Amino acid sequence: MREYELSPSLLSADFGYVMRDVESITPYCKFLHLDVMDGHYVPNLTIGVPVIKSIRKHSDLILDTHLMITNPEEFIEPFAEAGSDYITFHVECTNEPFELIKRIRDLGKKAGISIHPDTPAEAIYPFLEKGAVDLILVMSVRPGFGGQSYIPESTARIADYRKRLDENGSEAILSVDGGINVKTIKEAAGAGAKLLVAGSAVFGKENPGLAAKELYELIGVTF
Ligand code: DX5
Ligand code: ZN
Repeated sequence: MREYELSPSLLSADFGYVMRDVESITPYCKFLHLDVMDGHYVPNLTIGVPVIKSIRKHSDLILDTHLMITNPEEFIEPFAEAGSDYITFHVECTNEPFELIKRIRDLGKKAGISIHPDTPAEAIYPFLEKGAVDLILVMSVRPGFGGQSYIPESTARIADYRKRLDENGSEAILSVDGGINVKTIKEAAGAGAKLLVAGSAVFGKENPGLAAKELYELIGVTF
């Protein structure tokens, strides 16, 4: 991993030409963010296991699956088998987060935990301990839709988590998701987010690869 990585969110891609869009970013990116929504935890439906399985067949990108579903415990195995590399669930959606992390890791995958912007920041403090989890996903919009504006309070939240992760010696990747674009990426990266999810600012553009390259250059990654 370079100092910063983008994880372009497929949600904003053209699903009729999905591999064309994935291939467009492949020369620049290492990660691909896959948003799974169930119409319960969030008021929207998106992709699931079959789409991820198909993308896995055709791409070597690191598949960063973001589960926005109320019952993540029922879907860990299918999303692991589909070929996800990271499986991230929401802290709001389970009573057994540590058990879920263990199950994800036992399947040979990296485990992530995500937090809704309306949930108190402290809710994921236990996961900032060294070794507790592999990825922390800070939602900087209310989950459910692409193209929303970055919530400014997210910056302080990222900085707080960055400080605590560093103090604890945790190597978990700090990621941010929502409203990341040419105007906000420096702020989120400056606060300490290392994996920047961007949907509309990459796949919503005419040339997703070029858009990804431009975002990288703004945070000092050059090609
Ligand atoms: C929203 C999803 C995001 C979304 C981000 O609930 O989790 O990953 O695709 O889209 P942008 O970057 O357009 O805010
Ligand atoms: Zn997401």
